Amino acid sequence: MAEHIQVTRALFNEVMVPNYAPAPIIPVRGLGSRVWDQAGREYVDFAGGIAVNALGHCHPALVTALKEQADKLWHLSNVMTNEPALRLAQKLVDSTFADKVYFANSGAEANEAALKLARRWALDKFGEQKQQIISFSKSFHGRTFFTVTVGGQAAYSDGFGPKPGAIDHAEYNNIESLKALMSEQTCAVILEPLQGEGGIIPGDLAFLQGVRDLCDQFNALMIYDEVQSGVGRTGKLYAYMHSNVVPDILTTAKSLGGGFPVGAMLTTTAIASHLKVGTHGSTYGGNPLACAVAEAALDTINQPEVLNGVIEREQLFRRELAAINEKHNVFSTVRGQGMLLGAVLNDEFKGRSRDFFLAAADQGLFALVAGPDVIRFAPSLVIPEADIIEGMKRFEQAVAQVKQG
Ligand SMILES: Cc1ncc(COP(=O)(O)O)c(C=O)c1O
Repeated sequence: MAEHIQVTRALFNEVMVPNYAPAPIIPVRGLGSRVWDQAGREYVDFAGGIAVNALGHCHPALVTALKEQADKLWHLSNVMTNEPALRLAQKLVDSTFADKVYFANSGAEANEAALKLARRWALDKFGEQKQQIISFSKSFHGRTFFTVTVGGQAAYSDGFGPKPGAIDHAEYNNIESLKALMSEQTCAVILEPLQGEGGIIPGDLAFLQGVRDLCDQFNALMIYDEVQSGVGRTGKLYAYMHSNVVPDILTTAKSLGGGFPVGAMLTTTAIASHLKVGTHGSTYGGNPLACAVAEAALDTINQPEVLNGVIEREQLFRRELAAINEKHNVFSTVRGQGMLLGAVLNDEFKGRSRDFFLAAADQGLFALVAGPDVIRFAPSLVIPEADIIEGMKRFEQAVAQVKQG
């Protein structure tokens, strides 16, 4: 028998690398959009991890898929293929622009694959001079050294030695700033159609179309990072489906596994052909447990009533937030789409998103921040109306708490 260890928050500081600063409570159980901590206190979950638990906690379809697969086969390696991976790939291909899928274990890894593929595609087709990758201010693409350097906050990639090169940053929603950087040497432009970590900033339709046009003009690949916006979160299976702008490569993770780690890169046959045998890989990518759960998540989410339900919930969220704001006057605007919303703090409360986050936890609500000025909500796509109402009641108490100081 394993020795019994008393788990407390203090233990984190003793045994964990200090790169996170988790909240004082330790959640131990979740069901739907409610979570309970060690002391038995119950919370409403408006965070969903960080836009991950797309079907809440312990959704029966996902639990069943995981348990069934757990009794069959856990892992093989990519020397073999497996049924859940191929079923999931088929469904992703059937429901998107893509013809081909590469599986990873996280968003960063999906982006790493996308960026490496873009570089290899450009090298094969145009030669060594075509290496430039352009991304945008405030973007977030993960924490591997390549993806974090591509991301829009230099502070995250500073202090780790020489950075990968040929990476430039333009201003998001400013097509002129992209135009000024682009040339025949541009190999790819990567962007989130709705920026998440950067503050829940939607890409303007004209801007997204402009990026597509410039990529076409300069023979560059357009990569959509839908790690946060994908798998139903905006009310479409992928956010690109709200417009006529179709990327060449799309990355997806977070909601894809509904809480089980899995990521994927989707692309066309012509582009995929440049990642030949041996060019890239991952021990766990395409793991049968992960793919079985993701298949169940995709089956459940990719239904008109679920996707339409996301839009209905967005409307309820917006109504509730507007009512709170009418009383307390703390936001300048609420932006985002579907179940990925950001309440932007007005001048009086600028820089204090963490205070709201902490007060919300005090009041029994998990919320999120997206930078210092934005309170982010990324709940389950199927959160019951009653949980939204109860969560908003608690959020209003949190707002009152912050205002009282
Ligand atoms: C848009 C976007 N891309 C990539 C990532 C990185 O994903 P992961 O943490 O799974 O590596 C994130 C995570 O927040 C994200 O929001």
